[in-house]
Amino acid sequence: MYETYFNNKFTNLLVFYVYLLVFLLLSPFLFVWELVNYIDSCFRSKENMSGKVVLITGASSGLGELMAYEYAKHGAYLAIISTQKPESRLQQVALRARELGSPDVLFMFADVSKVHECRMFVDDTVQYFGRLDHLVCNAGIGPLYTIKNDVTIFLPVIVR
Ligand SMILES: NC(=O)c1ccc[n+]([C@@H]2O[C@H](COP(=O)([O-])OP(=O)(O)OC[C@H]3O[C@@H](n4cnc5c(N)ncnc54)[C@H](OP(=O)(O)O)[C@@H]3O)[C@@H](O)[C@H]2O)c1
Repeated sequence: MYETYFNNKFTNLLVFYVYLLVFLLLSPFLFVWELVNYIDSCFRSKENMSGKVVLITGASSGLGELMAYEYAKHGAYLAIISTQKPESRLQQVALRARELGSPDVLFMFADVSKVHECRMFVDDTVQYFGRLDHLVCNAGIGPLYTIKNDVTIFLPVIVR
Protein backbone atom coordinates (compact mmCIF):
# COMPACT_ATOMS: atom_id res chain seq x y z
CA MET A 1 0.00 0.00 0.00
CA TYR A 2 2.78 2.45 0.99
CA GLU A 3 4.70 1.50 -2.18
CA THR A 4 1.66 2.09 -4.37
CA TYR A 5 0.67 5.49 -3.01
CA PHE A 6 3.84 7.13 -1.74
CA ASN A 7 6.93 5.51 -3.17
CA ASN A 8 6.44 5.64 -6.88
CA LYS A 9 8.14 7.58 -9.67
CA PHE A 10 5.52 10.33 -9.69
CA THR A 11 5.63 11.14 -5.96
CA ASN A 12 9.43 10.98 -5.95
CA LEU A 13 9.58 13.52 -8.77
CA LEU A 14 6.90 15.65 -7.14
CA VAL A 15 8.82 15.81 -3.85
CA PHE A 16 12.02 16.69 -5.74
CA TYR A 17 10.42 19.59 -7.65
CA VAL A 18 8.55 20.91 -4.60
CA TYR A 19 11.84 21.01 -2.65
CA LEU A 20 13.58 22.69 -5.59
CA LEU A 21 10.84 25.30 -5.85
CA VAL A 22 10.87 26.05 -2.12
CA PHE A 23 14.67 26.33 -2.22
CA LEU A 24 14.62 28.72 -5.19
CA LEU A 25 11.91 30.86 -3.60
CA LEU A 26 13.64 31.07 -0.23
CA SER A 27 17.28 31.42 -1.26
CA PRO A 28 17.16 35.18 -2.13
CA PHE A 29 15.63 35.91 1.31
CA LEU A 30 18.22 33.74 3.04
CA PHE A 31 21.00 35.47 1.14
CA VAL A 32 19.72 38.94 2.13
CA TRP A 33 19.26 37.78 5.76
CA GLU A 34 22.85 36.49 5.92
CA LEU A 35 24.17 39.68 4.30
CA VAL A 36 22.29 41.92 6.77
CA ASN A 37 23.57 39.85 9.71
CA TYR A 38 27.13 40.00 8.39
CA ILE A 39 27.05 43.79 7.94
CA ASP A 40 25.42 44.20 11.36
CA SER A 41 28.15 42.08 13.01
CA CYS A 42 30.84 44.34 11.46
CA PHE A 43 29.41 47.38 13.25
CA ARG A 44 28.38 45.71 16.53
CA SER A 45 30.78 46.66 19.31
CA LYS A 46 32.82 43.65 20.42
CA GLU A 47 33.65 43.06 24.07
CA ASN A 48 37.16 44.12 24.94
CA MET A 49 38.71 40.99 26.48
CA SER A 50 41.97 42.62 27.45
CA GLY A 51 42.49 42.06 31.18
CA LYS A 52 39.34 39.96 31.57
CA VAL A 53 39.53 36.56 33.31
CA VAL A 54 38.26 33.52 31.45
CA LEU A 55 37.93 30.00 32.84
CA ILE A 56 37.76 27.20 30.25
CA THR A 57 37.11 23.58 31.16
CA GLY A 58 38.42 20.88 28.81
CA ALA A 59 41.16 23.09 27.40
CA SER A 60 43.82 20.43 26.86
CA SER A 61 42.60 19.68 23.33
CA GLY A 62 40.00 20.36 20.66
CA LEU A 63 37.58 23.26 20.87
CA GLY A 64 38.63 24.23 24.42
CA GLU A 65 42.27 24.52 23.37
CA LEU A 66 41.35 26.67 20.35
CA MET A 67 39.12 28.91 22.48
CA ALA A 68 41.99 29.38 24.93
CA TYR A 69 44.22 30.59 22.07
CA GLU A 70 41.52 32.97 20.78
CA TYR A 71 40.98 34.52 24.22
CA ALA A 72 44.76 34.72 24.66
CA LYS A 73 45.13 36.65 21.38
CA HIS A 74 42.66 39.19 22.80
CA GLY A 75 44.73 39.64 25.97
CA ALA A 76 42.57 37.73 28.44
CA TYR A 77 43.89 36.07 31.61
CA LEU A 78 43.15 32.35 31.50
CA ALA A 79 42.34 29.57 33.92
CA ILE A 80 42.33 26.27 32.02
CA ILE A 81 41.17 22.88 33.25
CA SER A 82 41.40 19.24 32.25
CA THR A 83 41.68 15.91 34.01
CA GLN A 84 45.07 14.79 35.22
CA LYS A 85 46.58 12.33 32.75
CA PRO A 86 50.25 11.55 32.15
CA GLU A 87 49.84 12.49 28.49
CA SER A 88 47.89 15.71 29.22
CA ARG A 89 48.84 18.68 27.01
CA LEU A 90 47.40 21.26 29.40
CA GLN A 91 50.78 22.71 30.36
CA GLN A 92 51.78 23.09 26.68
CA VAL A 93 48.44 24.82 26.00
CA ALA A 94 49.19 27.23 28.86
CA LEU A 95 52.64 28.02 27.43
CA ARG A 96 51.27 28.56 23.91
CA ALA A 97 48.47 30.80 25.26
CA ARG A 98 51.08 32.95 27.01
CA GLU A 99 53.06 33.21 23.76
CA LEU A 100 49.89 34.28 21.95
CA GLY A 101 49.28 37.21 24.30
CA SER A 102 47.65 36.08 27.54
CA PRO A 103 49.27 38.01 30.43
CA ASP A 104 48.93 35.02 32.80
CA VAL A 105 47.62 31.47 32.54
CA LEU A 106 46.66 29.30 35.50
CA PHE A 107 46.31 25.62 34.66
CA MET A 108 44.60 23.20 37.02
CA PHE A 109 43.80 19.51 36.87
CA ALA A 110 40.27 18.66 37.93
CA ASP A 111 37.37 16.42 37.03
CA VAL A 112 34.23 18.39 36.10
CA SER A 113 32.00 15.47 37.09
CA LYS A 114 32.94 16.07 40.73
CA VAL A 115 31.10 19.04 42.25
CA HIS A 116 33.70 19.74 44.94
CA GLU A 117 36.46 19.88 42.29
CA CYS A 118 34.39 22.37 40.24
CA ARG A 119 33.95 24.55 43.33
CA MET A 120 37.65 24.31 44.00
CA PHE A 121 38.84 25.45 40.57
CA VAL A 122 36.32 28.31 40.44
CA ASP A 123 37.36 29.46 43.93
CA ASP A 124 41.06 29.10 43.08
CA THR A 125 40.58 31.18 39.91
CA VAL A 126 38.79 33.99 41.75
CA GLN A 127 41.40 33.91 44.52
CA TYR A 128 44.31 33.98 42.04
CA PHE A 129 43.00 36.64 39.62
CA GLY A 130 40.58 38.45 41.93
CA ARG A 131 37.66 38.08 39.49
CA LEU A 132 36.03 35.81 36.91
CA ASP A 133 34.41 37.29 33.78
CA HIS A 134 33.75 34.39 31.43
CA LEU A 135 33.08 30.75 32.27
CA VAL A 136 33.33 28.37 29.30
CA CYS A 137 31.88 24.97 30.28
CA ASN A 138 33.36 23.03 27.38
CA ALA A 139 34.68 19.79 28.93
CA GLY A 140 32.91 16.81 27.51
CA ILE A 141 33.05 13.67 25.50
CA GLY A 142 33.97 14.54 21.92
CA PRO A 143 32.83 11.70 19.66
CA LEU A 144 29.19 11.19 18.78
CA TYR A 145 27.54 7.88 19.69
CA THR A 146 24.19 6.39 18.83
CA ILE A 147 21.76 5.53 21.61
CA LYS A 148 22.54 1.85 20.96
CA ASN A 149 26.03 2.35 22.41
CA ASP A 150 26.82 1.79 26.03
CA VAL A 151 25.81 5.12 27.63
CA THR A 152 28.17 4.57 30.56
CA ILE A 153 30.91 6.08 28.35
CA PHE A 154 29.40 9.47 29.27
CA LEU A 155 29.78 8.89 33.03
CA PRO A 156 33.10 10.79 33.27
CA VAL A 157 31.38 14.07 32.39
CA ILE A 158 28.07 13.56 34.21
CA VAL A 159 28.02 15.29 37.58
CA ARG A 160 27.24 12.70 40.23
N1 LIG B 1 33.71 18.46 18.12
C1 LIG B 1 32.42 18.45 17.79
O1 LIG B 1 32.02 18.28 16.63
C2 LIG B 1 31.36 18.68 18.86
C3 LIG B 1 30.02 18.68 18.52
C4 LIG B 1 29.06 18.90 19.49
C5 LIG B 1 29.45 19.11 20.80
N2 LIG B 1 30.77 19.09 21.12
C6 LIG B 1 31.13 19.32 22.53
O2 LIG B 1 32.13 20.31 22.61
C7 LIG B 1 33.03 19.98 23.67
C8 LIG B 1 34.47 19.90 23.16
O3 LIG B 1 34.54 18.95 22.12
P1 LIG B 1 35.93 18.55 21.47
O4 LIG B 1 35.62 17.93 20.17
O5 LIG B 1 36.85 19.71 21.53
O6 LIG B 1 36.38 17.39 22.48
P2 LIG B 1 37.85 16.89 22.87
O7 LIG B 1 38.87 17.28 21.87
O8 LIG B 1 37.71 15.44 23.22
O9 LIG B 1 38.15 17.71 24.20
C9 LIG B 1 37.43 17.45 25.37
C10 LIG B 1 38.13 18.17 26.49
O10 LIG B 1 37.40 17.94 27.68
C11 LIG B 1 38.29 17.46 28.67
N3 LIG B 1 37.56 16.59 29.58
C12 LIG B 1 36.90 15.45 29.28
N4 LIG B 1 36.32 14.94 30.38
C13 LIG B 1 36.63 15.80 31.39
C14 LIG B 1 36.33 15.83 32.78
N5 LIG B 1 35.58 14.89 33.35
N6 LIG B 1 36.82 16.83 33.54
C15 LIG B 1 37.58 17.81 32.98
N7 LIG B 1 37.89 17.85 31.68
C16 LIG B 1 37.42 16.85 30.89
C17 LIG B 1 39.38 16.75 27.88
O11 LIG B 1 40.59 16.75 28.58
P3 LIG B 1 41.25 15.44 29.23
O12 LIG B 1 40.78 14.27 28.45
O13 LIG B 1 42.72 15.69 29.13
O14 LIG B 1 40.74 15.52 30.60
C18 LIG B 1 39.54 17.68 26.69
O15 LIG B 1 40.37 18.76 27.03
C19 LIG B 1 32.54 18.68 24.27
O16 LIG B 1 31.74 18.98 25.39
C20 LIG B 1 31.72 18.07 23.16
O17 LIG B 1 30.73 17.21 23.68
C21 LIG B 1 31.73 18.88 20.19
